[in-house]
Amino acid sequence: MNKISIKNIKKGYKERRNQGRKGSDASVKGDDIMVLDGISLEIEEGEMVCFLGPSGAGKSTLLRILAGHDQATSGEVLFNGQPVTGPSADNIFVYQQNGLLPWYTVWENVEFGLRNLEDEEEKNNRIHEHIALVELSGFEHHYPHQLSGGMQRRAELARAMAVNPDVLFMDEPFTGLDYLTHLKIREEVINMHTFYQKTTLMVTHFIEDALVMADRIVVLGERPAKVIMVKKLDFSRPRNIEKDKGLSELRDEIFLLLGVSYVA
Ligand SMILES: Nc1ncnc2c1ncn2[C@@H]1O[C@H](COP(=O)(O)OP(=O)(O)OP(=O)(O)O)[C@@H](O)[C@H]1O
Ligand SMILES: [Mg+2]
Repeated sequence: MNKISIKNIKKGYKERRNQGRKGSDASVKGDDIMVLDGISLEIEEGEMVCFLGPSGAGKSTLLRILAGHDQATSGEVLFNGQPVTGPSADNIFVYQQNGLLPWYTVWENVEFGLRNLEDEEEKNNRIHEHIALVELSGFEHHYPHQLSGGMQRRAELARAMAVNPDVLFMDEPFTGLDYLTHLKIREEVINMHTFYQKTTLMVTHFIEDALVMADRIVVLGERPAKVIMVKKLDFSRPRNIEKDKGLSELRDEIFLLLGVSYVA
């Protein structure tokens, strides 16, 4: 069971410019910038949830808190009923932008996530398979700086997926990819999700990605962010936004919600 319960999460950051200055009261306390203002959500095992929201709303912050990489100011996150107090190396893998280790090759970067796997043959097979999946075969021994931006993202995806985690956290995994690679890798993530049914939480700026991929879409409002929409997507896959009226209406609704009159 991989159930995540998010209970009334609030998060504020201290505003640094008001800290430590002499002669002002605010300097003593520091002002809190409220980022997340009471987020509650139940995430079911195997669910793919996509988070949308304006830039700076707190999406990455929320994802970090859920993965145990950051702490909420109040509220709690339960993973299978147990409070999340820190990152879990074995169960949860956090996909981060620019997450490759620069002193490791592509092969070594993917291998790094599998360091606890004892069966060498299985380990090698898994690395090989995932590098091939993102079409980086032939670049196994390249270092990140020898790859294009898009290739680096693909290597990061290979690394995240090879771990085969219980929960996969992805923060804008397709940013920086060219259009065709974006579509291709999105397809791979969907296929892997259909096959393995891993609980997947993804932040994205691309409404279309959320519509095509998600079992549920969660939209956050402007900072301090609250959940302003939760929508379960019962559309069969593969999905085609243009051909499915329900999906294109939902797209327009979300665009409007985010302040863009898309259908103009
Ligand atoms: N470590 C930090 N210290 C202080 N403020 C922070 C910190 N991390 C984030 N913030 C602030 O919290 C707010 C939310 O940031 P966050 O990165 O979560 O937004 P986001 O929704 O992921 O934005 P984007 O879509 O642009 O990635 C921003 O105003 C940011 O300045
Ligand atoms: Mg972000």
